[in-house]
Amino acid sequence: MKHITINGDRLWQSLMTMAKIGATEKGGCCRLTLTDLDKEARDLFVQWCEEAGCTVTVDQVGNIFARRPGRHNDLPPIMTGSHLDTQPTGGKFDGVFGVLAGLEVLRTLQDHNVETKAPVEVSVWTNEEGSRFAPAMMGSGVVAGRFTLEEILAKTDIDGKLFGEELKRIGYAGELPARQRPIGAFFEAHIEQGPYLEAEKKTIGVVNKGQGQRWYDVTITGRESHAGTTPMPLRHDALAAAARLINQVERIANTNQPHACGTVGFLQVHPNSRNTIPGQVTMSVDLRHPDDTILSKMDRELKVFCEHLPAEVNVEVKLEPIWYYAPVIFSEQCINAVREGARTHGYSHMDIFAGAGHDACYIADFAPASMIFIPCENGISHNEIENAEAADIIAGCNVLLSAMLERANA
Ligand code: GLV
Ligand code: MN
Ligand code: MN
Repeated sequence: MKHITINGDRLWQSLMTMAKIGATEKGGCCRLTLTDLDKEARDLFVQWCEEAGCTVTVDQVGNIFARRPGRHNDLPPIMTGSHLDTQPTGGKFDGVFGVLAGLEVLRTLQDHNVETKAPVEVSVWTNEEGSRFAPAMMGSGVVAGRFTLEEILAKTDIDGKLFGEELKRIGYAGELPARQRPIGAFFEAHIEQGPYLEAEKKTIGVVNKGQGQRWYDVTITGRESHAGTTPMPLRHDALAAAARLINQVERIANTNQPHACGTVGFLQVHPNSRNTIPGQVTMSVDLRHPDDTILSKMDRELKVFCEHLPAEVNVEVKLEPIWYYAPVIFSEQCINAVREGARTHGYSHMDIFAGAGHDACYIADFAPASMIFIPCENGISHNEIENAEAADIIAGCNVLLSAMLERANA
């Protein structure tokens, strides 16, 4: 039974059909969370799951669960899943692969009339990306208890729209309580989004760890004044201060190698007029490291820099930590199921850690979890040109099928 394989053409076609929702000119996807396009993608997923004979439920934060019963339905389900939302310049695979690989597992079990001991579920987690509403991984975070439902429903996007209202508007404010429940094992299949599998010519990444992250909002307040009449020493230039901070974020990452990452990806300049000295800048900072001690050191370095910046450049700096999660060690049992799945199908594999945030990192709070990575072209993701080979997509899904079957019949 371990050796049944998925239908690769069907999986690929489903990925390409889903990619039409929010398709961009450069071949990627823009399907921001809780938009009409997110609704369209969710509706299609629900339709496909119902056609595969599953029961679909939605929880209070919009997470979707498609369930295929087993022989013993009182056993905790063996679950897989990921997300359908994308970055503004996102690709066709980040998140979507994990969701549709899960659906393909359900369809394959159906094709082969496989009855598992435990029930099997596929999940779609709300707002994994954290682009429209920060922070990321909100749906899995509420279920894990990292965030309260109330605080998440009250989040606003850049236009002041409420998360809770948008969730209702697209019809995915469900009734199932968004809280921890027993899960026998959780697997998330995902493109690696980095360069290592490709460089090492390995098909499967056996993910043993998720790196830690710290996110901040920064507000720099200076003073607007005339670009032609304000002498340089008399300026309170918020953007010039922001430039120093951006440099510092890069320096912090570069001096904490290997593995440290530091990014400023969001910046708003006020009043954004070429001949007025910028009076205010709001910006984001994203720091990551797989070792929590080093991540804390990076955090201190950022704080010290922000404390000293005002005296140097005549501005006020407000640094607000908005999100932290420590590195996550995945479950040995699930890691072994993934490694064994790769061996069963004869795929080359290596151990690897996750650089990106993933819903599996929050599910690991209360259930045994791990992830399956496959290579992506040139390691590029969060980009419309993000690409993965069909053969690797199929391999990742076959490993997912094997790992889920092993756990569902354990
Ligand atoms: C999500 O994709 C993240 O890692 O920021
Ligand atoms: Mn993702
Ligand atoms: Mn992503």
